[in-house]
Amino acid sequence: MTRRLLLAAADSRSARRAVLAAPGGRAVVARFVAGETRADAVVATDSLVARGLGVTLDHLGEDTRDPDQAAAVAEEYVGLLGSLDRAGLARRAEVSVKLSALGSGLGADGPGLARAHLRAICRAADTAATTVTVDMEDHAATESTLATVAELRADHPTLGVVLQSYLRRTESDCRELLGAGSRVRLVKGAYAEPESVAWADRVEVDRSYVRCLRLLMEGQGYPMVATHDQRLIEIAGALAVRSGRPQDSYEFQMLYGIRADEQRRLAEAGETVRVYVPYGTDWYAYFMRRLAERPANLGFFARSLVGH
Ligand code: FDA
Repeated sequence: MTRRLLLAAADSRSARRAVLAAPGGRAVVARFVAGETRADAVVATDSLVARGLGVTLDHLGEDTRDPDQAAAVAEEYVGLLGSLDRAGLARRAEVSVKLSALGSGLGADGPGLARAHLRAICRAADTAATTVTVDMEDHAATESTLATVAELRADHPTLGVVLQSYLRRTESDCRELLGAGSRVRLVKGAYAEPESVAWADRVEVDRSYVRCLRLLMEGQGYPMVATHDQRLIEIAGALAVRSGRPQDSYEFQMLYGIRADEQRRLAEAGETVRVYVPYGTDWYAYFMRRLAERPANLGFFARSLVGH
């Protein structure tokens, strides 16, 4: 129930204003968001890379409302990739992109516009010798996101995509993405979805995650195990061993500010670990999804506000 309320608040403009207006609201957000500017993002990346971690950078923002904004988002990503390259960080840092931020929701022309912007970002990533991964949004976008990624992979074969284990369709999507070079980031899923398309029961979501993980580990692609769930992290390690995968043929991924101790422990054990680092001014929806995942964070949020 709390999760559904928080996810509903993620779409509420008045709730957004309340977080912004609260004394210390911005400081609390800083636990999950690396900063507002590209320079902040590069500093955070540098510090994580120095600690032996990889990074994927997300310029915050979704549901872009006009073509100019979509073009500005694409330009930001292209600029960011240039900055990472010049700073010598592109070897360990890639980018994560939402198609809705690139304008996919802008009417009949939206999907084509987003595809063109994504293509420009992929070209910039090729120049910097790094990769792009497309985030997955709510279930209404799954089919078109997978189609866009399939189309662009013809020219950019390392383009990766997120699959969400809470969706009933995902096991079958995994089977489509088992080929050599296929980069799949497996997550549980962060949106409020109807039971007709997604499991509501957490146990079912976890079971689906394990089934998908098994397929990906036994496949020819590059699985990206994106979870903070200790049991699933251990199962992923065991499945990698059972599938005869060397440690550099898959990776673990976690969100910035969540389980940093476990990120370090895995890296020290020789695993490849990548941290998803969001930055930018449009942090509100991302922040509310993080609160919804873990009601304990609400206490942290409330205490921090009182402390300021
Ligand atoms: P679960 O939520 O069950 O958490 C397991 C444990 O992890 C908790 O008990 C707690 O210890 C810790 N934990 C989890 N969330 C926490 C939080 N917010 N604060 C503190 N501790 C927390 N989703 C999506 O729909 N589309 C996408 O494109 C992406 N992309 C993405 C990239 C990466 C790299 C990651 C790690 C995650 C995503 N997600 C996502 C989010 C994902 O769907 C999911 O909501 C979160 O990862 C939380 O799920 P867990 O697998 O961590 O399990």
